[in-house]
Amino acid sequence: MKCLKVPKSVGEEVRKKLLHQSLLSTAYRIESEDGHLLIPIVDDDVDMEYPVVERDFKKLEQPPSSLTDVVDLPDELVNELPSSYDIVGDIVVVKIPDSLEPYRKPLGESLLKLHKNVNVVLEDRGVEGDFRVRDVVHLAGEHRTSTVYKEHGSEFAIDLTKAYFSPRLATERMRVVEKVQPGERILDMFAGVGPFSVLIARNVDVDKIYAVDMNPDAVELLRKNIRKNSVGKKVEAIEADARGVKVKVDRVIMNLPHSARDFLDHALKSLDHSKGYVHYYEVISTEGLETLESALTDIIKKLGFHAKVIDVREVRTYSASKVHVAVDLEISPLPV
Ligand SMILES: C[S@@+](CC[C@H](N)C(=O)[O-])C[C@H]1O[C@@H](n2cnc3c(N)ncnc32)[C@H](O)[C@@H]1O
Repeated sequence: MKCLKVPKSVGEEVRKKLLHQSLLSTAYRIESEDGHLLIPIVDDDVDMEYPVVERDFKKLEQPPSSLTDVVDLPDELVNELPSSYDIVGDIVVVKIPDSLEPYRKPLGESLLKLHKNVNVVLEDRGVEGDFRVRDVVHLAGEHRTSTVYKEHGSEFAIDLTKAYFSPRLATERMRVVEKVQPGERILDMFAGVGPFSVLIARNVDVDKIYAVDMNPDAVELLRKNIRKNSVGKKVEAIEADARGVKVKVDRVIMNLPHSARDFLDHALKSLDHSKGYVHYYEVISTEGLETLESALTDIIKKLGFHAKVIDVREVRTYSASKVHVAVDLEISPLPV
C-alpha cells in the first residue's frame, strides 16, 4: 500500500497534517525504516515534499465496540441480542431472551471481552418479593455479586443479591437532589442502599434525612454507604417498616413503584404542618398514565390534603405496556 516516507523528526507534524486533510489511512500501523517513518495514506495526491513509496502494512486491531463484534451466533439470532444491559461497578447485569438460552455462557464471555473494566457477568432474572431483590445467575468472570458503584461523585457498596439497586435512576436521583433546599428534613421511605439519601446529603446542606428500609441487608449496606461518603451527621439509617416511622419532615421520597399508593397516607402524615413535597414513583400502564394526575389528587384529597402536581416524568420504560413514572407533588392542608 502507498505511504509517505518522512524523517522521524517531522513524523508527528506530517501525521497531523495528513489526518486533517483526510489523507491518513487510520486502519494501518505506522512503521519505521532507516530513521524514517512510513505513514500509510489513502491517496497519493499529497502536496508535500516527501516521497510516496509502496510497502506492506499490518492492519491495526480495532477494539470491539458492540456485542455483535464479539459474539458468535447463527445469523438468524443476531437480532435477538439484548440491545441494552446495566453495568454496576465492575458487574454487567443482562437480561437474556429465551431464544438465546443455549448461548447464555458464550454471551457472558463476550460481554467480558467487550468491557475491559468488567470482571463479572450476571444474568438478570428479575426483581422479586417485598425487598425487591434481584434473582441473578452467574454467566462469566469472577463468582461474586458485590461491587462498588460510583454515581455523581459518591461511592456505593452494592450486593445485587442482597438489596435492590438500579443504575437506571441516576439522572432521576440528581434531579431530586437539585430540588432540595438547605435546612430541609427528609424522609426517604424506601431507601435501599441509600442512593437518594447519600446523594442529597453530599450535595445539599440538609438538616436531617431519615433513610428507612425494612430489608436488614439493605440497611447494612446503607450504613456502610453513609460511612463511605462521610454523611453520618446528616443521614440516619432506620431498619423498619416505613409505616412505623413517626417523624416530621419537609419532603418525602417514595421509591417503591409497585405499591407506593398504599403508603401515601403515611407519607402525607409525615409532612410537618401538612405542608411539603412528595416525590412519588409508580409503575403504571400507558393507559393509566393519562389519568394518573387526577387519580392521585383525588386520593390525596380523600386523605385530607390538597395536592398540586408540579411535574410528571417517565423515568424509564418498564415493559412493552408499562412505564416507571415520577410525580412531584406539592402538598398543603385542604382549605376549610
Ligand atoms: C425499589 S427499592 C428502592 C431502593 C432505593 N430507593 C433506590 O433507589 O435504589 C424499594 C426498597 O423498599 C424496601 N421496602 C419495601 N417495603 C418497605 C416498607 N414497608 N418499609 C420500608 N422499606 C420497604 C425494599 O426492601 C427495597 O429496598
